[in-house]
Amino acid sequence: METIVTESPRIAASWLNKGELVAFPTETVYGLGGDMTNDTALRQIFSAKGRPADNPLIVHVDSPGRIQEVVSEIPETARRMVRQFFPGPLTLILKKKKSVSPLVTADLPTVGVRCPAHPVAHAFLKQCNHPVAAPSANISGRPSSTDWRAVHDDLKGRIRCVLKGPQSTIGLESTIVDCSVYPPRLLRKGAVSLSDLRTYVPETAAATTDENTTQPKSPGLKYPHYTPAARVILCEPQSAECSPGRKHAWIGLSEPPESAGKTSRCADADDYAYRLFSFFRECDRESIEVIYCELPPDKGIGHAIRDRLQRAAEG
Ligand code: TXA
Ligand code: MG
Repeated sequence: METIVTESPRIAASWLNKGELVAFPTETVYGLGGDMTNDTALRQIFSAKGRPADNPLIVHVDSPGRIQEVVSEIPETARRMVRQFFPGPLTLILKKKKSVSPLVTADLPTVGVRCPAHPVAHAFLKQCNHPVAAPSANISGRPSSTDWRAVHDDLKGRIRCVLKGPQSTIGLESTIVDCSVYPPRLLRKGAVSLSDLRTYVPETAAATTDENTTQPKSPGLKYPHYTPAARVILCEPQSAECSPGRKHAWIGLSEPPESAGKTSRCADADDYAYRLFSFFRECDRESIEVIYCELPPDKGIGHAIRDRLQRAAEG
């Protein structure tokens, strides 16, 4: 299949409306979209990515009001989060409407909904006839794509169209909160932190590790994620274990070790999140064998970076 790259949200939406798959930019990572009312397109999303069928998709809408098209009820906790964080890097899990295909939700009674805060995503979603089901636009298990070239590397020949935009400004996938239960529960860390959520919904609970491994509430969390081909080693700033060689790479916030062959010094935690997945992919292209990742402080988006780094190191 020929994969068309376009900067036109209108052209991209017209492919999607014809039942084709379209990758599109958002402020978190790129998404791999299909019409949520088209079961053939939904099946193709899973096959294009090599994604297990029991891992549900997030539904994307162009405006907060449209979440009503897919969910059957919006509890007060979710209302407050929508008011505060939509559009933005937050996905809410809510009870689904009957009409939502079980292919989207992997047979769960709930659905994930997100309204991206990104002008190109907005223009695209607005011209799509229905809400758009989209996982991250990468081959399953690989780091999410934060720029259109990464999407193209992974999915060319497997999808009809890539809507080209700038590199994703956040660089990590959205925060996921389950609001179908009370109190709401954080399932995946992201740019909206637990303390951000608690400012508006103080009872929001952290997910326990147990839930994410043995009985995952968010099915995707049991699969390996975010893994470059290189081995990932985590280290505290300035620690002795951080001793990269010439064929190794390093990313972090402090002064890069002189011994490393390739380094990426990040200005702050936001910059770290922005660079991380594209650095992983760059290292893979250059056949780097080991990537040393300095752990950022455990606060704000640093929580989410540490979470992704830990998963990458386990993967
Ligand atoms: O930032 C993002 O969230 C990006 C952009 C494209 O929106 N999307 C993304 O999708 O990261 P994906 O498929 O890579 O991750 C979606 C996660 C998976 O871990 C999945 O299990 C979880 O959301 N999820 C989806 N629906 C769910 C549901 N009904 N209940 C629990 N978890 C759900
Ligand atoms: Mg993903």
